[in-house]
Amino acid sequence: MAAPEPPKVPIPKNGVDYRGCVVLAPMVRSGELPSRLLALKYGADLVWGPETIDRAIIGTTRRLNPHTNTLEWSRLPTSKLKNPHLDPENRESVLYRIHPELEKGKLIYQMGTANPALAVQAAKMVAADVAGIDVNSGCPKPFSTAGGMGAALLKTPDLLCDILTALVEEVGKPYEIGISVKIRILDDPEDTRTLVSRLVKTGITGLTVHCRTTPMRPRERAIRGQLSMIGDICRAAGVACVMNGDVTSRTEALALMREFNVDGAMIATEAEKNPSCFRPDALGGPHEWKTHWKTVVAEYMKLALHVENRWGNTKYLLGQMIPGREDAYKKMNASKCYADVITALGLENEDGLLDKARVVDQHLGIPKAQLTPAQKRQRVKESLEQGDKEKEEADTANDEPHAKRIKVPDSAVVDGGMASTAEVATALAA
Ligand SMILES: Cc1cc2nc3c(=O)[nH]c(=O)nc-3n(C[C@H](O)[C@H](O)[C@H](O)COP(=O)(O)O)c2cc1C
Repeated sequence: MAAPEPPKVPIPKNGVDYRGCVVLAPMVRSGELPSRLLALKYGADLVWGPETIDRAIIGTTRRLNPHTNTLEWSRLPTSKLKNPHLDPENRESVLYRIHPELEKGKLIYQMGTANPALAVQAAKMVAADVAGIDVNSGCPKPFSTAGGMGAALLKTPDLLCDILTALVEEVGKPYEIGISVKIRILDDPEDTRTLVSRLVKTGITGLTVHCRTTPMRPRERAIRGQLSMIGDICRAAGVACVMNGDVTSRTEALALMREFNVDGAMIATEAEKNPSCFRPDALGGPHEWKTHWKTVVAEYMKLALHVENRWGNTKYLLGQMIPGREDAYKKMNASKCYADVITALGLENEDGLLDKARVVDQHLGIPKAQLTPAQKRQRVKESLEQGDKEKEEADTANDEPHAKRIKVPDSAVVDGGMASTAEVATALAA
């Protein structure tokens, strides 16, 4: 007689099953909209957005950008709220941005949180527009752990379970989407077993395990010794288990999923530099990075221009995708706008990219006009005055214990455009 089918936590109507999926990892900076669209184009089954901290999305305004057909959650940075004359355009900073059509049913929103009520409030801001909500319980960076978020939650399992249960009941059920969690392994496999056994009982539909312990650095090899055990616990509870750590292609992902008997695989670092890693072998497999980077970069530029991606972010990603020894790398680095970089990469004759680049440069107001020394001194003076004022207010307003981690600094608004909240947090930590 055939063995009985293992149970499965039901996948809600608007949610997605992570089983059988090879997915793009949540990545601050490297997981912004054009990177996610490119991963999908190359065959990623699902994409995670970059971690966004609960308090940062709360209070944003959601609106459709008619230029790009993207949905944006934005707000005025704190100092501009208080002192709008600092920026005559009052340009808002965009905290989160999605393509509702191209990412439909594929996007998982990842949040940083250490508070069930805030997690629910934040999740409700996006729940109708995404296929799932994931809680980051693995980020080891001080900006995350200092607030009790990220990997700090691995040490407060009661709180982590409360967060997940609250999300399942108050967001997952009413919006009919799945709730999931991303953890790291613990040093002692028995501690991992105890933790995972609790997490799978919260009503989550998926669990991703990054196969490194919290202190491990990204270049240290992932440890896969605990993976089968974690997969078994998830399967017995009907929760999809996604593995993460040193996966470099779809083919490798599928082989590892079979070897460790887990349901899905997530790719981060490799996808940063070569998003074609998601392409199935039947369609040609990944492009060889060192020789074919230009094909991938051309695809990336089309998408970055299509969604008018923040220039600073595009440049950062090009820095990941173009091998450092290439001449184009130096030229890209010296570029100050999209038109520059399209020319530097020799893409001016492709698909009208140069014309598009000029239009986007105009929309984004780049390259920025050079300030005279007197204008620079005036800017610095105004920022210092504003900073003093805000510091005084922060010193006196002590009824807000986490104020430090939620204020959105202007420094995070690079080029007057989008900055993910985790970038905001990085800026705060700097
Ligand atoms: C640039 C970068 C940003 C990252 N940001 C996040 C994040 O926002 N949330 C998260 O859970 N993990 C984040 N990570 C960790 C990755 O999601 C992943 O767990 C880790 O890189 C291991 O996968 P890999 O071996 O394929 O790189 C980030 C990693 C990188 C390289």
